[in-house]
Amino acid sequence: MCGIVGYIGTQAATDILLSGLEKLEYRGYDSAGIATVLEGQLDCIRAKGKLCNLREKLESQVNPSRIGIGHTRWATHGKPEEYNAHPHTDTARRLAVVQNGIIENYRELREGLKERGHEFRSDTDTEVIPHLIAEFLSSSSSISPSPLLEAVRQAVNKLEGAFAIAVISADYPDEFIVARQQAPLVIGFGKGEFFCASDTPAIVPHTNAVLPLENGEMARLTSLGVEVYNFAGDRLKKSPRTLNWNPVMVEKQGFKHFMLKEIYEQPGVVRACLESYLNDDWQPESKNSPINLGLSDELYRDLEQIQIVACGTSWHAGLVGKYLLEQLAGIPTMVQYASEFRYAPSPLTPNTLSIGVTQSGETADTLAALAMEKERRAAYCQNGNRPSFQPRLLGITNRPESTLGQMIPNIINTHAGIEIGVAATKTFVAQLMAFYCLALDLAYRRQTIAPTKLEQIISGLRQLPAEIEVILESQERYVENLVHELAETQDFIFLGRGINFPIALEGALKLKEISYIHAEGYPAGEMKHGPIALLDAKVPVVAIAMPGNVYDKVLSNAQEAKARDARLIGVTPTNDSEAADTFDDTIPVPAVDELLSPILTVIPLQLLAYQIAAHRGLDVDQPRNLAKSVTVE
Ligand code: F6R
Repeated sequence: MCGIVGYIGTQAATDILLSGLEKLEYRGYDSAGIATVLEGQLDCIRAKGKLCNLREKLESQVNPSRIGIGHTRWATHGKPEEYNAHPHTDTARRLAVVQNGIIENYRELREGLKERGHEFRSDTDTEVIPHLIAEFLSSSSSISPSPLLEAVRQAVNKLEGAFAIAVISADYPDEFIVARQQAPLVIGFGKGEFFCASDTPAIVPHTNAVLPLENGEMARLTSLGVEVYNFAGDRLKKSPRTLNWNPVMVEKQGFKHFMLKEIYEQPGVVRACLESYLNDDWQPESKNSPINLGLSDELYRDLEQIQIVACGTSWHAGLVGKYLLEQLAGIPTMVQYASEFRYAPSPLTPNTLSIGVTQSGETADTLAALAMEKERRAAYCQNGNRPSFQPRLLGITNRPESTLGQMIPNIINTHAGIEIGVAATKTFVAQLMAFYCLALDLAYRRQTIAPTKLEQIISGLRQLPAEIEVILESQERYVENLVHELAETQDFIFLGRGINFPIALEGALKLKEISYIHAEGYPAGEMKHGPIALLDAKVPVVAIAMPGNVYDKVLSNAQEAKARDARLIGVTPTNDSEAADTFDDTIPVPAVDELLSPILTVIPLQLLAYQIAAHRGLDVDQPRNLAKSVTVE
């Protein structure tokens, strides 16, 4: 939520900041702004709305400044107006600050600062920061290592909440300061030039050498190098690491939208996951697990229960995970919304594995839920209670370098590659793959799966990439035809059952978030307990009907909807006459084992949402009010 960038070096800062912000626009796009220092003056330009408005404002300017900071905003405190846009400045307009996060104690800080004569110009929580820094600068006698660094250090020690900030000052034109507390911040190391950003896509076009700051760390960036300190002022020894990325990964590569590109990347994502975690030479008679996740055995020992915490699409992946962990490995599994779990955690149970699922690794609620779980379990054991209550944490993420990756040693990296479209697609499929691997590994170790079944599932997994390709190749015919008729529909219902119920939820979420059409996902059997009252000829019902345990049930639930005149669209294989008779339209998917089907059934639903939104001329990659990485509570 909100993206910040910073640059110091040998090139004109404005262009680098703008291209960095472009890569971070997925984090928020309510307003944008940059501040540079030139000839002893601070130049701060801001614009309401998307980055293109800021670009337009800057077009007529020639600004050779080689230092600057920038921001793209997702509004929390204060309307998305220019006067609330970052960077914010102190009363004398000598220093500027950009922030991602929320300063929880800003009201009391603001009152105090106002009483001491500071002049506020915005409604934001962020504005207290430049005023505080200015106050410390004027009262500080410190010269070593830098007065600006010392003033920022004193200011951040006054702040409560989650934040990542970058600060420049007209009085200290050869340095900028960054600090991080519970919000992501990465430093990039170029040749004679240094960068900071909320996320690596803004840095990789310039360098692959990056250093993610940890909580309670700050840094001073000059054209000579980077010094890292903690908030107590102690210098820390840190070295950058090399990112295995190339800049092309953050381009659209000929696709109209990032979301469409990411949908088409899914066969490759499944392949990458299989290559990483499936033992190539595994045979049913082998003496080892077909899966190698590289996790500590401690996580698995005497496991009695699993609890999954996540938000949004990752929560849907968690629901599929629950199904797999319970049905394949026989482990009771709970799935919690992280935002609910934080304030109403389930009673502690022994030998419990807590899994945080977050593609970004930065979702504030998920991180806080995991931190709370770790803390309360450790405290319980320290009080002399049974060691079987010790925390066991596992993260499933697409960004092992994220805050989650720093917080939890056991990580399943989903290897989906960077996802730019705000609506999650390929990262969801990758999370499902992580759950297949985890559930199969556990099932093998606990001997809850017959060798023939295991072999059958492994072979089914291997065929998935080609099967997704078949769906993608045929999508134009089926989905596009439907889109013309459905694009102006006001309400959609998605039905699924068993392992495909979470896919119904995910299909509805995709449609809501990018096309702004109201949609609900239901377990097909629940329809008649209320929601069926919504149905008439104007409400299309998309039903996922895959041969298996609940196939006949879903078809008869679909018939109930049909009897209420609903237009029925089936996500189903084409080879069944009963299904053909039931549905008005079908979006065919290959007939696979029901257990593996979510990886296929979600694809047409992603495409349906995408095509409808694109047909309506909406901004598919940056839907209104949303941001990709939700770093506030
Ligand atoms: C929906 C979507 C969101 C995220 C949610 C959690 O398309 O992208 O619902 O799934 O904000 O994000 P992560 O997985 O980064 O924790």
